[in-house]
Amino acid sequence: MTTSQERGMWGSRLGFILAAAGSAVGLGNIWGFPTRVGQGGGAVFVVIYLFCIVLICAPILVAEFVLGRGSRQSPVGAFKYFSSGTRWWWVGALGVVTSVAIVAFYSVIGGWTIGYVWYSATGALSSGGEGAGDFFTQFTGNGFKGVFCTFLFLGLAAASNIGGVRTGIERVAKTLMPALLVLLVLLAVRSLTLPGAAEGLAYYMRPDLSQAFNMSVFGAALGQAFFSLSLGNGAMLTYGSYLRRSEGIGRVVLWVVLLDTFIALLAGLIIFPAGFSIAGFDPASTGPGLIFAVLPELFATLVGGRLFGGAFFILLVIAALTSAISLLEVPVAHVIDRRQWSRPKAVLVVSGSAFLLSIPCALGFGAVESLTDFVPAQWGGNFLGLVATLCNNFSLPIGGMLIAIFVGYVWRVDRAVAELLAEHAWFPAPRLWGLLIRYVSPLGISIILVISMLAVIM
Ligand code: PHE
Repeated sequence: MTTSQERGMWGSRLGFILAAAGSAVGLGNIWGFPTRVGQGGGAVFVVIYLFCIVLICAPILVAEFVLGRGSRQSPVGAFKYFSSGTRWWWVGALGVVTSVAIVAFYSVIGGWTIGYVWYSATGALSSGGEGAGDFFTQFTGNGFKGVFCTFLFLGLAAASNIGGVRTGIERVAKTLMPALLVLLVLLAVRSLTLPGAAEGLAYYMRPDLSQAFNMSVFGAALGQAFFSLSLGNGAMLTYGSYLRRSEGIGRVVLWVVLLDTFIALLAGLIIFPAGFSIAGFDPASTGPGLIFAVLPELFATLVGGRLFGGAFFILLVIAALTSAISLLEVPVAHVIDRRQWSRPKAVLVVSGSAFLLSIPCALGFGAVESLTDFVPAQWGGNFLGLVATLCNNFSLPIGGMLIAIFVGYVWRVDRAVAELLAEHAWFPAPRLWGLLIRYVSPLGISIILVISMLAVIM
């Protein structure tokens, strides 16, 4: 087992905030959030999502960081450290397996964004003629292109992980975050000034409670909240294990939650007003192609749209990479800690396994019909959707619930709070946090899981 000395640490607290934010901000915010808002009927989804973030997920984020920092171990080791001789380490193991599955489908979507960098540069997006939605269908329906782009994305993530999780990410995130924010704000301003924007804005921000909504919206919102904050599978726990004890957790959590939520909300502010300005736009039926269908149309309305499009997709690839690196880090740190493998060997084996699962994910968009036909719509509609639904809507919230129960009842809140407040760290309302982690988070998750199960069965 590696000792804390060899383990390597983040350069500074800012470095850690950037790395954790780099993990949180990714495809989940810019691709996943608008897609799920569209499938969930608009503003009602947004409201439930925000409740999940504040009441359920933020307290669990604190718990993951404190478990990691306190134990200096990756997930399986952390549970063994605080509760040796019990079966709690299974929670860590669930996180390891879930991370590999998420890397698999994440890389497919990451691959699409790489494809779109290329198509923006060549001008194919703006001169497609047949409309951006059809272009996306054709692109993702081509099995060779899908698998090739997935391979590229996963290869880049693996190489960056080998190159150094700690030194590299801090530097990349420092320039990425401000650049991404500026570009997103510009795009939102443009989108809001398009004809039809008001309708999109109302759909996105004015909950229409008179309309019946599908019960599955609760599970989707909770799953999206977990996914967006990189929560429930031990990614934040693993990052926390590289944090010095002298660095407080309170501020990091505040920054990560604010930044992640702000960027997701901003993405919606770009997609829906622009979407509703396109004739015949239906946010619910577009599915995973939503941003790929809307954004090229938005870029086409801009002077220098090709440049904007290219820059946007490059930034999105980088944001997705900093998330994928953290996903890989969960299984990689696990085998390094447990088996003393070298990092390159660990990364190769882990990403190789993930790639095998990526292949059917990439081929389920028309290339191989049988990968689509067997999955009902409420389970994601194709193989990738199925893996994503299982991970996001079930595995991550279940992992998060078990983490909350572990910290609240097994390790116990007073010890966790003592660890949180160590070295005079700033942490607001520790008692409130104790209540949230013991009661609100686990109960909220169980209620939503029951509702989701019912929604699936009925
Ligand atoms: N939060 C990342 C995103 O929004 C995805 C992720 C999920 C990363 C789980 C790590 C763990 O893109």
